[in-house]
Amino acid sequence: MAASLLITRIGELVTNAPGEAGASSFALISDAALVIEGDRVAWTGPSARAPAADAVVDAAGRAVLPGFVDSHAHLVFAGERSAEFAARMAGRPYQAGGIRSTVAATRAATDAELRAGLRRLAREMLRQGTTTFECKSGYGLTVAAEARSVALAAEVTTEVTFLGAHVVPAEFGDDAARYVDLVCGPMLDACAPHSRWVDVFCERGAFGADEARAVLTAGRARGLQPRIHAGQLGPGPGVQLAVELGAASADHCTFLSPADVDALASSDTVATLLPGAEFGTRQPYPDARRLLDAGVVVAVATDCNPGSSYTSSMPFCVALAVRDMRMTTGEAVWAATAGGARALRRTDIGYLAPGARADLIMLDAPSHAYLAYRPGVPLVRAVWQSGRRADVG
Ligand code: NIG
Ligand code: FE
Repeated sequence: MAASLLITRIGELVTNAPGEAGASSFALISDAALVIEGDRVAWTGPSARAPAADAVVDAAGRAVLPGFVDSHAHLVFAGERSAEFAARMAGRPYQAGGIRSTVAATRAATDAELRAGLRRLAREMLRQGTTTFECKSGYGLTVAAEARSVALAAEVTTEVTFLGAHVVPAEFGDDAARYVDLVCGPMLDACAPHSRWVDVFCERGAFGADEARAVLTAGRARGLQPRIHAGQLGPGPGVQLAVELGAASADHCTFLSPADVDALASSDTVATLLPGAEFGTRQPYPDARRLLDAGVVVAVATDCNPGSSYTSSMPFCVALAVRDMRMTTGEAVWAATAGGARALRRTDIGYLAPGARADLIMLDAPSHAYLAYRPGVPLVRAVWQSGRRADVG
């Protein structure tokens, strides 16, 4: 039998344990303990009733949470755009076209450079408590450069997303149709073997509804599941398309019509909110309360990328969701863990109960609320990933 580890005297154990009828919601146990066996959670309950184990960790009243699930990140890129950020803070609006400068830098980078940048960000995420992350391509935009991006992403995560339809690259001028043909044909052929998901930036300045539908259905025909960048910079058809195609998630959702909210509420499509992007572009935040009150499943993720949101920190996004999107601390933590798992259609992560993957974090704090109450403070003290303690020192 696999060795067991008992974590005892947990002040607050956030479980998000699925309740009756399979419904999930923020849930916690005070004065709790948890047992890990191999890569799984074997037991959770009150500290006083904890079973014996091969080894014991004393949490001394600290909080333990499921590891964060960052369901939206663009980590394969070279270069940086701090000057563009500074210009935005001086009043210039964010434009989708900024992506092209990262495309030029990414194409010019060696595999080793891209791999080093990706691993640096993956490590940054782990140290901040992210135990699962999604990673998109989308800064290569040639067959070879996109194939390289998804292959590199597959070295660090199983949640790889092909985003060849990020923007029309400069060499195609205004011939978007020819580029969409490339994405739907040879590019998808080269990228599908390394990918689980297909995504499109459906936005003015990027791709319209028909182009997005073509890319997502072509991806689906190759076995990839759709997700979509929708309503980031203005109202548009992205959310309706996501629901129409049964996408796992519609991401951003900053601009939503009443019909969009209704469509999400009566679908399996998660609304993934990315407050780092609103912070980094100085846009209004998405209306999380309107979504939650309508019964939409909400996830929170970083959108880590060099343009709109260069943060790898789920704690920072939780703090923004609480402070600026009026989510409760429980809703925000649920969205950053179980919500992310829903957005990735994963049933093994995002919660802590017997059978779950043993992905968990211990905070240097007595409750989950400290993630927003003490913003910007490195509170993640220890991380277990698949039952193994990660070196986050
Ligand atoms: O999610 N919206 C499209 N893609 C990224 C931004 C990429 C960039 O500016 O480089 C996003 O915000
Ligand atoms: Fe994004």
